[in-house]
Amino acid sequence: MGQTPASTGGTVAIRGALLDCVADPFYEPEAQAMRYIPDGLLVVREGHIAHLGNYEEVAPGLGEIPMADYRGRLITPGFIDTHIHYPQTGMMAAYGEQLLEWLNRYVFPTEGKFADSAYAYRVASLFLDELLKSGTTTALVFAAVFPQSVDAFFEAADRRNLRMISGKVMMDRNAPDYLSDTAQSSYDDSKALIEKWHGRGRLLYAVTPRFAGTSSEAQLKLAAKLLDEFPDVYLHTHLSENVNEVAWIQEMFPQYQGYLDVYDQTGLVRERSLFAHGVQLTDAEFQRLSEAKAAISFCPTSNLFLGSGLFRIEQAKNPAHPVKVGLGTDVGAGTSFSMLQTTNEAYKVAQLRGQKLSAFKALFLATLGGARALCLEDKLGSFDPGKEADFVVLDPQATPLLALRNEAGIPDSLEDLADLLFSLVIMGGDRAVTATYIMGEQAYGNAL
Ligand code: GUN
Ligand code: ZN
Repeated sequence: MGQTPASTGGTVAIRGALLDCVADPFYEPEAQAMRYIPDGLLVVREGHIAHLGNYEEVAPGLGEIPMADYRGRLITPGFIDTHIHYPQTGMMAAYGEQLLEWLNRYVFPTEGKFADSAYAYRVASLFLDELLKSGTTTALVFAAVFPQSVDAFFEAADRRNLRMISGKVMMDRNAPDYLSDTAQSSYDDSKALIEKWHGRGRLLYAVTPRFAGTSSEAQLKLAAKLLDEFPDVYLHTHLSENVNEVAWIQEMFPQYQGYLDVYDQTGLVRERSLFAHGVQLTDAEFQRLSEAKAAISFCPTSNLFLGSGLFRIEQAKNPAHPVKVGLGTDVGAGTSFSMLQTTNEAYKVAQLRGQKLSAFKALFLATLGGARALCLEDKLGSFDPGKEADFVVLDPQATPLLALRNEAGIPDSLEDLADLLFSLVIMGGDRAVTATYIMGEQAYGNAL
């Protein structure tokens, strides 16, 4: 017993309480959407999930294979952070401004440092370690405008065998000269980066215009050309975050019918497009996103920190025109790397709008919902056999306070589990993470 020996390459088994989503609890009864095995065994072969079931039923057939024993812990799929900026790691908690002033005063000078490859690699390494410590195994990540900032990030991610998505920021106006590209250079540099990195190991590329405020129409159209030329890369940008931003975009693009329409008319609203925030979206814009099968990243800690507003999750999840939604930390506007802190704030945003975000819905957003938003549900987000074995081991008694709250330990019923999981959704944070596994190998955590 004990932690899984590193690089066995073969078959390993993990014992613990297994919980994942097999459907969307926003649309299906929770009892049907959740799969819960209180004393479960997860069998991993060559980095992929081979099998899962009750320990008593599965174990006898396995023979002598390495096993990690996490009885008393809850094992879920790894968390998926659908929007985060690695160059902003060192500038979290920048005081006193809302979006546009915050960008000019804090973000741009910070991102200027990422012209230096060695510095970029150092921050990327720390950033990835923070994600793993928080139980996050996949993220959609803004790099900086410099191609070498993307190289540094992907090199650091590749060393850790992580499924990560990133891209070079495209930004040809309203930014300092030292951070500006041109429409053509952003196209050329992005294309070279796609050819170098997209599909290498577990890495994927996202075409990344920062937002309509810092891109000319020509740049947005060239971003769309890249999506035409490389149909399986992503589009990653910001949308309708802040009231002043929305008004500014309307002034800048008077010929368009609103913020989303700028992206739509330039060819950027597609199935593999992910838009961060969407706090100020109109009902018609939600409908258009649904029609296009595009996704939104809900970033509650950021939206509260920058005073941007309260995301209308019930409108996004409206069954009449459902939009794919994942959760994002949006570090450095976000205030934590932890998806469990992010669910905590998501719950409160829902409360402020008279809505309830259940523990299972929160878990869905942080796992399978994120995988669906990133069109990766064939590979990630649940324990379905064949998927990549990225998962997190959570300790419901990680602190004295949680131990008191969850004195009874791992429950048998889904109802009791909802209560235990809710304590982690609200109080969890990174302290609740015992271990994080990547492709079946322990990437974070102490030996048992
Ligand atoms: N809009 C444009 N750039 C940014 C950014 O870096 N962070 C956030 N939160 N919003 C943005
Ligand atoms: Zn952002």
